Amino acid sequence: DWTMRAFKDEAIAHIRAQVGAEKVICGLSGGVDSAVAAVLLHEAIGDQLSCVFVDHGLLRLGEAKKVMALFRNAYNIPLTLVEAEELFLKELAGVTDPEAKRKTIGRLFIDVFEAEAKKIGGASFLAQGTLYPDVIESVSFTGGPSVTIKSHHNVGGLPERMNMKLVEPLRELFKDEVRALGRELGLPEAFVGRHPFPGPGLAIRCPGEITKDKLDTLRLADEIYIEEIRRAGLYDEIWQAFAVLLPVRTVGVMGDGRTYDNVVALRAVTSVDGMTADFYPFDMRFLGHAATRIINEVKGVNRVVYDVTSKPPGTIEWE
Ligand code: XMP
Repeated sequence: DWTMRAFKDEAIAHIRAQVGAEKVICGLSGGVDSAVAAVLLHEAIGDQLSCVFVDHGLLRLGEAKKVMALFRNAYNIPLTLVEAEELFLKELAGVTDPEAKRKTIGRLFIDVFEAEAKKIGGASFLAQGTLYPDVIESVSFTGGPSVTIKSHHNVGGLPERMNMKLVEPLRELFKDEVRALGRELGLPEAFVGRHPFPGPGLAIRCPGEITKDKLDTLRLADEIYIEEIRRAGLYDEIWQAFAVLLPVRTVGVMGDGRTYDNVVALRAVTSVDGMTADFYPFDMRFLGHAATRIINEVKGVNRVVYDVTSKPPGTIEWE
């Protein structure tokens, strides 16, 4: 891709000019954006770059292992795994407001990155895979009324007292361009084609208070749903699909007994850039099958609903 080759060369020159001989820490999230940012930075500054993957306990099933394996096998980029589940869940206990969740998570990410920076003898820069739509939806628009839709944890959610400067080489790109750049940089197709996953992870897919039990339940439901989507050959047609664990219990019947358990909502949308989206029109048989599997296999869930809201007026995530 000619455009992406030109963009890549320009971005590399820009990174070198910005960073000089300083060290850079890059937070990986398991998503496409941060992976592309990391590989681009590595081409630009080599071993001045250290990558950190934070397992905050808000990841999907097996995600930490998958990301670590992919990165270590595919690239010769130093990557540190930070186990921070206990820290994040402790600080998030009792936090129910979506913006407060993002602020808490943003603050803890910075704490972790700063601690890691110290370990490598100080890093002056923090690199992130922020995209153009993240910037647009997070900042207050100037001119018109001041509206923040969501302060993406990595844009509006950063604490002001952070000591590191930001490097955001993808800040002008849309998702499809990041994927093209990823291909240009030789990232495996299975990685480039992954659905987006938000930095705050499952915290914003568990409306209300977050607990380890709820997260475990959600992880299992999500895994089954995505597995069925892949099996049906629909993964690549969908921009993003995930399960949400609702803080609502409903009555059901199973065998001879009454159940009183939680509801899982399934979400799937098509989109070009994440800024607008349409709900995905699944075949009802597919949904019925996925729902049956989730209810049979996930303890604590006795009802499944499908979200038919598009964006606008809904957003893609529920928080
Ligand atoms: P919404 O829910 O605003 O999401 O329609 C648009 C896209 O952005 C992702 N998203 C986030 N990504 N930090 C992120 O890194 C966040 O705080 C955040 N909130 C939403 C969402 O998954 C979708 O792809």
